[in-house]
Amino acid sequence: MCDLGETNERHEQFMCSMSQTERQRLGRFRRPVDARRFVARRGLRREILARYTGFPPSELRFHDREMQRPALVRNPRTPDIRFSSASSGDLFLLAVACAMDIGVDVERLGAVGDVVACADRICTPAESAWLRSLPVEAWDDALCQLWTRKEALLKALGLGLSRPASTVDVRADRIVIAPPMADHPAPALCIIHSVDVPTGFRAHVAAITTGSEPVVQVYNGP
Ligand SMILES: CC(C)(COP(=O)(O)OP(=O)(O)OC[C@H]1O[C@@H](n2cnc3c(N)ncnc32)[C@H](O)[C@@H]1OP(=O)(O)O)[C@@H](O)C(=O)NCCC(=O)NCCS
Repeated sequence: MCDLGETNERHEQFMCSMSQTERQRLGRFRRPVDARRFVARRGLRREILARYTGFPPSELRFHDREMQRPALVRNPRTPDIRFSSASSGDLFLLAVACAMDIGVDVERLGAVGDVVACADRICTPAESAWLRSLPVEAWDDALCQLWTRKEALLKALGLGLSRPASTVDVRADRIVIAPPMADHPAPALCIIHSVDVPTGFRAHVAAITTGSEPVVQVYNGP
């Protein structure tokens, strides 16, 4: 978990490590603040993944197709490191796993304007009923929790927006994932953990496992 605003003095260093594809995407940002955050996200991503792969940051290559799960380009010497990222303003989360699909999401409380309309769009009928059973003042927080659980799960599955969020119930911390929801041949287990983030935000990480129980560790700062 990193504050992108604290990396400003490293902007040039991060710029130097950017690939041609990253520079092309950078050129499409209209607001300088979005461009600065993008450079910081990509720089931190390289720096953190370099520690896990053992390669220098500038040597890492990525599959970065928009709206698709990003991945490291692997060669036989690269460990099977997978990752997922999310940001809200200057708050940046990078989740890293070995040989396990992973997804992370963070959202700011209050980011959803019309809570009822959003709930109708992203909740299953059972989630909507649960939400409506809560006092109105708890809805924003509850929806933010559901939202981040769903996006973490959809990112872990590599689905992003291609699957409607209203088709998966995420109230449980352990969810069995079976085809056709995922391309895993056998039913897999998705484990969802909340991540401690600063006041005013909610975040979750989801890991898809067919074997061992993932252990979640949260590191602060780059
Ligand atoms: C792309 C999406 C996965 C998340 O986008 P977002 O909330 O705008 O942005 P986040 O910061 O949470 O995540 C962005 C990261 O998701 C990753 N991502 C994009 N598509 C992905 C996919 N199909 N699978 C896994 N990860 C994906 C990318 O790494 C991206 O990082 P980058 O912008 O630095 O390249 C997608 O779900 C989306 O656009 N959601 C819009 C919000 C919404 O309607 N949510 C419904 C509530 S569940």
